Amino acid sequence: MNKKVGVGLIGSQFISTIHAESIKLVSDAEILAVMSPTKGHASEFAEKHGIPHYFTDLDQMLAMDDIDLVVIGAPNYLHCEITLKIAGAGKHIVVEKPFCMNMAEADLMIDACKKAHVKLMYAEELCFTPKYVRLKRLLDEGALGTPLLLKQSEKHDGPHADHFWDVERSGGGVTMDMGCHAFQFFRWINKNNPVISVYAQMSTTVHTNKTRGDDNGIIILEFENGVTAMAEESWTKLGGMDDRAEIHGSEGVAYADVLQGNSIQTYSTKGVGYAVEKAGNTVGWSFTMYEESWNYGFPQEFEHFVDCVKNNKEPLVTGEDGKAVMEIIFAAYESAGTGKKVYLPFKTDALKPIDLWKKQNE
Ligand SMILES: NC(=O)c1ccc[n+]([C@@H]2O[C@H](COP(=O)([O-])OP(=O)(O)OC[C@H]3O[C@@H](n4cnc5c(N)ncnc54)[C@H](O)[C@@H]3O)[C@@H](O)[C@H]2O)c1
Repeated sequence: MNKKVGVGLIGSQFISTIHAESIKLVSDAEILAVMSPTKGHASEFAEKHGIPHYFTDLDQMLAMDDIDLVVIGAPNYLHCEITLKIAGAGKHIVVEKPFCMNMAEADLMIDACKKAHVKLMYAEELCFTPKYVRLKRLLDEGALGTPLLLKQSEKHDGPHADHFWDVERSGGGVTMDMGCHAFQFFRWINKNNPVISVYAQMSTTVHTNKTRGDDNGIIILEFENGVTAMAEESWTKLGGMDDRAEIHGSEGVAYADVLQGNSIQTYSTKGVGYAVEKAGNTVGWSFTMYEESWNYGFPQEFEHFVDCVKNNKEPLVTGEDGKAVMEIIFAAYESAGTGKKVYLPFKTDALKPIDLWKKQNE
């Protein structure tokens, strides 16, 4: 392709703002349009980010010939339906995490994109987070020896929008919402070695009035090559977003803390305007972040996806990865429901992951 990659965004709120700001940093990309169904939101967003076209109707945006790539920043329950539409219009796709609601949807999405000869790219920014990329390189160069134990965790005090809390639209709680990051992180660090079992403990503790979803989850994966991985996910942790990882190997250990480890330790009697995602009260000590999107790897992620479209390259994270993560998510909810370790491959026709946990508990 010897023009800039034309991009259309779907969504105009939290993640789409990050998408817009990140894609603006990619020299080979040009955001041509934004689509959002709520009246006024797309036009406001377009004005704020200098985007020439805006729509409340997806078909109208997909009719734009100059758009090559569409980025989905809509709630989980819409990922499949929207992917099928975009594939039908012959455009490449970046779909936000989690990939979709169930395994049948994952197959539909992958098949539709194969048939339409469009790329289906799974937006897992942890594979592009500079600190985690460096962490992986330490392992790859042999500095840590053979990997034995991997840990990764994301924690904050709960999502910003109601669709996350409503399991009919989200599919599950924190294990679905943030465990998906950890599961792809582990697969990436461990070079896509197959996961052979999943064990999980989940609970709804603080947010019982808001959701049927889990607000805390601990999930243990066992890989075929003997590596154990443990994810800790929380929607009840106060004081701002936490994102950290550890690699324990036969010759060394490495700890990486993406947010607090990169931020300014700040003390203020008045509080700061913005410290970090979901910081809450910032009076007293807080961790004030700089270049948050860059430190998370969002611009780097889009640099890569745009390069894949422009130069017809194979993406680092694909629809198949999204589907593999969904299988682990389903196995985790099954394990939390049965109290037993679940072996992969795990087949299920459940419509959403949480059904496998709550069916046993209610
Ligand atoms: N990669 C990450 O770290 C990360 C962070 C946050 C959210 N996400 C994911 O991004 C997705 C959106 O989350 P968010 O935090 O931006 O939510 P949000 O509520 O802030 O924004 C959702 C957007 O989707 C739009 N939308 C709703 N119905 C739609 C429809 N029928 N067609 C098109 N657009 C529609 C809304 O108008 C809104 O603009 C979720 O799947 C979430 O898991 C990923």
